[in-house]
Order: sequence, then C-alpha cells, then structure tokens
Amino acid sequence: MIEEALRYDSPGQGLIRVTNVDVTFGSTTIPAGSQVMPLVGSANRDPSAWSDPDALVLDRSPNDHLAFGTGIHLCIGASLARMEGRIALETLFSRWPGVHCAGEPETHQQSGPTGTPDAAG
Ligand code: HEM
Repeated sequence: MIEEALRYDSPGQGLIRVTNVDVTFGSTTIPAGSQVMPLVGSANRDPSAWSDPDALVLDRSPNDHLAFGTGIHLCIGASLARMEGRIALETLFSRWPGVHCAGEPETHQQSGPTGTPDAAG
C-alpha cells in the first residue's frame, strides 16, 4: 500500500538536474549545462512502464517507482520513511479499525512557484 501510494501520488513530483553531457531523447537534444526537471510523478504513471497506471492497485507487484529518486542520490531516508509509514498506518488501523472516509476525497491544491489553489482548493 505504501509503495503504491508513493507511485500513484509521489510526494516529490520532480527532481532538478543539470546535464553534464548532451542528452538526446528521440529527436530532441538537450545541450550539456542545461537545467532540467525530470518529472518522476509522470514517470510513475508512464503507460509504457506500468499497466493501468492511473489505477491505485494496492498490491501492485513489482512496484519499482521513482518516488525516492534513483542513482547516487537515491533517498537516504527511504527505509526510515517506509517504516514510519507502515507504523503510522498499522497504528491508525489498530486503534480505529472502523476508520473510513467522511466523504468524497478533495482534489489537490496546487503547490510550487505559482502556489495558487485550484478551483476546488
Ligand atoms: C516519503 C518520504 C520521502 C520521500 C518521498 C523522499 C524523496 C526523496 C527523493 C526523490 C530524493 C532524491 C532527490 C534528488 O535526486 O535530487 C531524496 C533524497 C534525499 N532524502 Fe528523501 N524522501 C523522503 C524521506 C526522507 C527522510 C525521512 C530522510 C531522512 C531522515 C530523507 C533524506 C534524504 C537525503 C539526505 C537525500 C539526499 C541524498 C543524496 O543526495 O545523496 N528523505 N529523497
């Protein structure tokens, strides 16, 4: 459940990188020295990588999402975050076994530079 939640709605939607060599994707070449923002939230819903990517499948397996990044900067706190999430959910459901949604979930507020809440926010 935790892995699928991290994939489905990644807390960090993008990373910032600077290319140190020219990088070509398809017909586009990004020159060395460019600041780029790989969108891990988008990669985590990529239909070429996931079956039914917009569905929340709690027992999805394998689930090699990018919510903790990848490579040498892979989140050093990933194990702690996973353990905290598991303990929090186990505690919630054991103390309040009947916990349930009080209504329809609300949509997200936008965050980031624009910071403007959407119409539902
Ligand atoms: C759900 C919780 C968390 C998420 C989604 C998350 C996500 C990430 C991501 C995506 C990166 C890679 C950033 C990049 O490549 O530019 C990262 C790096 C990092 N995270 Fe987390 N993180 C979480 C919790 C934590 C916790 C609990 C700690 C520490 C107690 C932590 C410490 C770090 C550190 C130190 C780095 C930098 C690693 C490096 O640059 O080598 N994170 N995290």
